[in-house]
Amino acid sequence: MMETISRRNFTTQMLGSLMAFSLVETLSRGDALARGVAPIVKHWLAEVEEISRALAEQKNKQIEWQRKLDELFARVELKDLLRDIDFERLSKTIKFPDDHEGVVATKPPRAAGLPKELSFSTFIYGLKKDRAIVPHCHRNMTSMHMPIGGELHGWHYDRLRDEPEHLIIKPTLDRALKLGEVTTISDEKDNVHWFKAISDGAFTFNIGVYGIDPAVKLGGRQFYLDPLGAEKLGDGSLRVRHLTMKEAHRLYGKSS
Ligand SMILES: [Fe+2]
Repeated sequence: MMETISRRNFTTQMLGSLMAFSLVETLSRGDALARGVAPIVKHWLAEVEEISRALAEQKNKQIEWQRKLDELFARVELKDLLRDIDFERLSKTIKFPDDHEGVVATKPPRAAGLPKELSFSTFIYGLKKDRAIVPHCHRNMTSMHMPIGGELHGWHYDRLRDEPEHLIIKPTLDRALKLGEVTTISDEKDNVHWFKAISDGAFTFNIGVYGIDPAVKLGGRQFYLDPLGAEKLGDGSLRVRHLTMKEAHRLYGKSS
């Protein structure tokens, strides 16, 4: 009996403390709202829209889009992002091809006030072990790949100049990537990317702004490339030939 009473008293005290704590929390939150303090983090989707719209309206350079995405996702918790993009459920629906990546579109919940048509697209890419998003470059497009599951190795190259059947590129990234790390490419900085899964079931979250300048016909992947077969030019740059998608999948899509 004594034990029961003590336990009940203890529980009552605990509840009392919890209620007091949550009341304090509520009051301080109310105080912050009353003083007009902005929430620390605006929803990331609304921020990506602002950043991408400025790009589409030619108000920002592509390199600004890259910098701002870096800053933004440094403030977003990976677990919150995964929940918003429905990663657990959608990643199970991805079909994994044997010599390239699988992909599924994701539609994060919209905050009120966002336009029906966003200025960017969102996808989840998935890879089996030793499969790759093969080396390619873009035109009139910016792209982010953030590793969100498994382990990936990433390569980036700056595009220095074009020749009729080749690109002259320079390596800027060649390492294992961290979960939640932002990697971006654009016409202005790091125009070529390539990712390989080094664990089974590796995933990236992708944001792409396609067809930035409507006057330019192309607005996506432009060429597939062969960096491993490159001619080394002596100053660290490489002359790489164009590949067809089929060649790129055969040479880079699956390796061990
Ligand atoms: Fe790409």
